[in-house]
Amino acid sequence: MKILVTGGAGYIGCHTAHKLKNSGYQPVVLDNLVYGHKDSLRNAGITDHYIGDIGDCYLLRRIFAEHEIQAVMHFSAYAYVGESVCKPDLYYRNNVVNTIRLLDSCVEEGIKCFVFSSSCATYGVAQTEIIQESHAQNPVNPYGRSKLMVEQILKDYETAFGLNHVILRYFNAAGADPSGLIGEDHDPETHLIPLVLYAALGLRENIKIFGTDYNTPDGSCIRDYIHVNDLAHAHILGMKHSLEKRESLIFNLGNGKGYSVREVIEVCKKITKIDFPVIEEKRRAGDPPILVGSSRKINEVLGWEPEFPDLEKIISHAWTWHKKRHAID
Ligand SMILES: NC(=O)c1ccc[n+]([C@@H]2O[C@H](COP(=O)([O-])OP(=O)(O)OC[C@H]3O[C@@H](n4cnc5c(N)ncnc54)[C@H](O)[C@@H]3O)[C@@H](O)[C@H]2O)c1
Repeated sequence: MKILVTGGAGYIGCHTAHKLKNSGYQPVVLDNLVYGHKDSLRNAGITDHYIGDIGDCYLLRRIFAEHEIQAVMHFSAYAYVGESVCKPDLYYRNNVVNTIRLLDSCVEEGIKCFVFSSSCATYGVAQTEIIQESHAQNPVNPYGRSKLMVEQILKDYETAFGLNHVILRYFNAAGADPSGLIGEDHDPETHLIPLVLYAALGLRENIKIFGTDYNTPDGSCIRDYIHVNDLAHAHILGMKHSLEKRESLIFNLGNGKGYSVREVIEVCKKITKIDFPVIEEKRRAGDPPILVGSSRKINEVLGWEPEFPDLEKIISHAWTWHKKRHAID
């Protein structure tokens, strides 16, 4: 079965395309390489790929003509929260307008299932420590709003055109494929685990903790880190279920367990066996103390469970990848 994977040269898309391939599917990747990497496609063993834009309806028509696509997994988007505040036009154009173009092609081609990378950013300020799918969605930045808009558009497209969707609201994707062949490679990087590992590699002078006086056990913020391969697995389970049952689904995708910034740094030091300076800074505006997603619903409906719930495993896989990428033994 052929699956179109947009953004498949990026971090999560590439791991999912790799897992699709290893699970007997045929991923067909579309990525404009604005943030993606051609090497990732090669290392993931993806042979069917197109370098182009999801907003290009002629290219989409060509891809659908050349491949009998059954479902679409849509990872491509801009995902820098800070940038989205300064350049909302870019975010609404790429994440919303281009997604509508892609959706229109899917409707035209009679695609049965559309899997969408949404985000915990759609929830905005958390009202509860553990976030359920029913939590109010009040995003506080254009990035989060662009994701929520697509969620709403998907519901309307289902009603009007019968296009089923699987909306997955990720918490913090982390780790790398255990093979060390593919991993996280954002530029600029904003995620905690790679930044801490860059400090271990000497690629940055230190790591900063923003806020050490939160009402958490060690005073630093707590986040939910999910292994990228567990995320990939959830996409496949969700797609299969949606195609078989002809229904739409919405799930949080997290570990259901939180780790503090200090814990992440300590585990990184333990795994890398490298010490590096840690600087305590004041809180950053808009950082909620605790953000953890409940994964109960996806466990009950799809039977999904993380294979790598342990932070040490997540970080050791990331470390293997970063060492290899920066050629360090
Ligand atoms: N990384 C996380 O922790 C996280 C958390 C929540 C949600 N998400 C969402 O998951 C998805 C994947 O995130 P990621 O971390 O892999 O990001 P990424 O930047 O590594 O991957 C996105 C890919 O999309 C491509 N792309 C962007 N616009 C495109 C367009 N118009 N046409 C074709 N390709 C285009 C980029 O070149 C890139 O390869 C995004 O939608 C992101 O918003 C990520």
